Amino acid sequence: MHKDIQDILFTEEEIAQRIEEIGADITKEYAEVIAKGESVLLISVLRGAAIFMADLARTIDLPVEMDYMAISSYGNGTKSSGVVRILKDLTSDIKGQHIIVVEDILDSGLTLKYLLKNLASREPASIEVVTLLRKKTLQQAKINCKYIGFECPDQFIVGYGLDYAERYRNLPYIGILKSEVYH
Ligand code: IMP
Ligand code: MG
Repeated sequence: MHKDIQDILFTEEEIAQRIEEIGADITKEYAEVIAKGESVLLISVLRGAAIFMADLARTIDLPVEMDYMAISSYGNGTKSSGVVRILKDLTSDIKGQHIIVVEDILDSGLTLKYLLKNLASREPASIEVVTLLRKKTLQQAKINCKYIGFECPDQFIVGYGLDYAERYRNLPYIGILKSEVYH
């Protein structure tokens, strides 16, 4: 796997450090909601964000719940198709809950835009988004992300949950994939 990586963008240590910071922010932000007896649900978008959510959840010092959704937007290519399908829905009703959507990467934003609209229609008490990465690209849907891990260049990146054709998800760092791998 390592030989297919052109550059390491974020090391394992940098990722862990940034996640600690975000977890501390979320703990502060949601302490009051929890104190009132309301519930907070982390929703991870499978499969890319599962690794991020697993690490993030353990840095949040509050009794949050966790659920998972799977949506497809990419197939095995490297560009968003704009066609989003729910492959696996949430296990329970989210009405009245405080939702934190945990995403791996915001690229075109099409996936999240669709997802947020869909979730909002289920009448949660609130919805916020935390994304580990946001690509610096010109065409991106306007998405309000409360927490962003890192800004990254508009290149195809893999690792720490992010895949190319289902591979590289288990790299502990985030790196740019050599273009000859997908050309
Ligand atoms: P969007 O709809 O274009 O914002 O794409 C969102 C999804 O596409 C992310 O949740 C990722 O699963 C995937 N994706 C976008 N950019 C990359 C990348 O550079 N590497 C791997 N997956 C990506
Ligand atoms: Mg993906």
